Amino acid sequence: MSDDKNLPVVKDDGEHHGAVEVAEPIPDPGLEPHEPRITDIDPKAADRVERQVSAMFGLATLLVLGACVAYFAIGRDSILQFGPLSGNANNMVMGLCIGLALFLIGAGAIQWAKKLMVDEEISEDRHAAHSSPEQIAEITEAFKQGTAESGFGRRKMIRNSLIGALGVLGLPAIIFLRDLGPLPGRSLYNTIWAKGIRVVNDVTDRPIKPSDLIVGQLVNAAPANLAPLQEENPTEYQNAKAKAAVIVVRIKPSEIRTKPGRENWGIDGILCYSKICTHVGCPISLYEQTTHHVLCPCHQSTFDLSDSAKVVFGPAARPLPQLPLALDSEGYLVAQSGFTEPVGPSFWERG
Ligand code: FES
Repeated sequence: MSDDKNLPVVKDDGEHHGAVEVAEPIPDPGLEPHEPRITDIDPKAADRVERQVSAMFGLATLLVLGACVAYFAIGRDSILQFGPLSGNANNMVMGLCIGLALFLIGAGAIQWAKKLMVDEEISEDRHAAHSSPEQIAEITEAFKQGTAESGFGRRKMIRNSLIGALGVLGLPAIIFLRDLGPLPGRSLYNTIWAKGIRVVNDVTDRPIKPSDLIVGQLVNAAPANLAPLQEENPTEYQNAKAKAAVIVVRIKPSEIRTKPGRENWGIDGILCYSKICTHVGCPISLYEQTTHHVLCPCHQSTFDLSDSAKVVFGPAARPLPQLPLALDSEGYLVAQSGFTEPVGPSFWERG
């Protein structure tokens, strides 16, 4: 027989020409009858589980001691070989011992809790999540009393020294920032570009003549004095290259809007800009020749190369620095001078 007291009640609301289901509260199902565990009724089973748990904890102890022994006993340079895989024996044995020990402690604790600890099911009714005004008043009073009893307000020497101790806790985090390397200082103000340095193709290291570029073309370039550094001082080479990389583009002269003072910075529509994005320094060169826009792939800053590389979109705060160009006696592109402003990210402007 079905118990129809739990079925939904159907009522006619007289307005919607039909029936509306009114849900009755679901009755509290209560707790399932408690089933005792085998370890609750059989003392031998309980003893067996106790021995298992103790064995796991005991084995974990031995494994931790084994890890300590391995630390001293296995040479730091010993290698363990497993087929094509190999690894440092010292690290592997210690790692395995400690990992297994932790696993056994965890497994033992779970076994202990599930099989031997008191198995009592209880239910607790939900109560309002917020505190009553009386509870709030009681807690506030207890807090005030605690503050008074601790003497936090009265014992100024303790209070101030504690504030000092907590305050300096953040100091190591600041000092450790030093590990990020030296401050950039004025390093971005100087590159190895200088008057008369030839502009060379970044891939072939060949100097570039205006006739090498057709309208709409963009090439990645570098200063001619960069390549020799590669042999002489590889670190200095990387630093110099990161700052001196440029893009050289050829645009129809009639489509260029020249900034006052830069009338002689280009050669027949050939312009040269820093390749380093002024946002946070990614290298850029995704060029769209119909719009003369170059896009930074990192955060989509977009610069108009026909308009002094001004920012037309994105987070960059200033145009790409422009390198003034000239021709040397053999007709190759050279720098008129170094950059007239810092290259790279603009953090220094925000100081
Ligand atoms: S680094 Fe170029 S947009 Fe962020």
